Amino acid sequence: MYTFPENFQWGVSTSAYQIEGAVNEDGRGESIWDRFAHIPGKVSDGSTGDVACDHYHRYAEDIDLMAELGIKAYRFSISWPRILPNGRGEVNQAGIDYYNDLINKLLEKGITPFPTLYHWELPVALHGMEGWTQRDTAYAFAEFAAVCSAAFGDRVKHWITHNEPWCASMLSHQLGMHAPGIRDWTKALTAAHHILLSHGLAVQAIRKNIPDAEIGAAPNFEPAYPATDTHAAREAARIWDGYYIRWFNDPLFGRGYPADMVHFYKEEGYLPYGLNFVLDGDMETIAEPCDFVGINLYTRHYAKEDELLDVFPFPDHVPLEELTAMNWEIYPQALQDTLCRIWFEYRPKKIYITENGCSYLDHPDESGRVDDQRRVSYLEKHIKAAHNAIACGVPLAGYFQWSFLDNFEWGLGYTQRFGIVYVDYETQQRYPKDSAFWYRDVIGRNGLAE
Ligand code: FCB
Repeated sequence: MYTFPENFQWGVSTSAYQIEGAVNEDGRGESIWDRFAHIPGKVSDGSTGDVACDHYHRYAEDIDLMAELGIKAYRFSISWPRILPNGRGEVNQAGIDYYNDLINKLLEKGITPFPTLYHWELPVALHGMEGWTQRDTAYAFAEFAAVCSAAFGDRVKHWITHNEPWCASMLSHQLGMHAPGIRDWTKALTAAHHILLSHGLAVQAIRKNIPDAEIGAAPNFEPAYPATDTHAAREAARIWDGYYIRWFNDPLFGRGYPADMVHFYKEEGYLPYGLNFVLDGDMETIAEPCDFVGINLYTRHYAKEDELLDVFPFPDHVPLEELTAMNWEIYPQALQDTLCRIWFEYRPKKIYITENGCSYLDHPDESGRVDDQRRVSYLEKHIKAAHNAIACGVPLAGYFQWSFLDNFEWGLGYTQRFGIVYVDYETQQRYPKDSAFWYRDVIGRNGLAE
């Protein structure tokens, strides 16, 4: 038996641009993802989030379905340009109304709202595509956090500032694979700093409006394991860990930027002006105390000595059946190791798994059934790993499966399906997959039977 603690938050996760659609409706402004997705060649299937799952018009039915499945908590994101079309200043009342309705509907159904403020929808009105390279954007984000916490704080007590700062900075500004599509190490590290700073400022803004709020960020974790028993592979794993995990988590937990990585980046020429973007007091602001840390984890990184910082190497060390449709290795031990490590190393008050899941391209049969046994198996293994971590003392308070619906998977468009609910994009019909019913039973018994 794998029974979870009482009041464990069994949730599902989504983000606004990936599901809402309605990008030009009711006064919403333009985000860097709207613009990026419309540039030919940026999204592999040429698609955009213009319509996505049409959740903006279908949120009520979608929440009904969550309730039928017994979902206890819903992590969604609030689209910044829907609330502040110009990034700051004038508030779009229609945007506030939309999220008010969504939140009220969730509460009516007994589902706890867990909004994320930044799931990558930076308004273009703030310095065009490169907003995060500008310090000023951190202050604009704090204003956005203040507007949202003032509007929804009477009912919403759980707040996530940033989703995956590594993606918002490095994947977007160093690797150029996500909006704004820049490839420049110095800009990426500058953007990373402004994002971290904006997190601290947002925590302060939310705390001011909602003294009893629970607030945290949701960084992503792809822990490195050396591919071979060599010094060089272990070094590759250390550098990866610094680049992906410690560069973000050390500052968030008050340790400043990791010295070994500052040294490495300087040697590589990535910090020609040193840490000149760090002003007095920034590191204290970034380390503003939080109530939890969110962990987004899907796979591990297999660190090879000759592939330093190769972000998506094909994992040819495992058989194909151990890969998901993303070509990500299924490695549940990474979840257990990461939960234990974060707990022992940083001592957060609480941890939520804010994203975990897998893409498989299963479709409905004639009867509408979607047999996605591979997803059930993935989720089961990861939920067991989470349970093992609790047994080691980790204060894990919730698990949010990614994702409730199949949706727009960023640079891969609609070629991936992460949902426990299948979406037919032609008809917008929803089909709960076998995994959705399986998850309902997990929630019902607060764990796994065996
Ligand atoms: C994470 C993102 C999320 C989704 C999953 C598959 O990196 O936060 O939006 O794309 O990966």
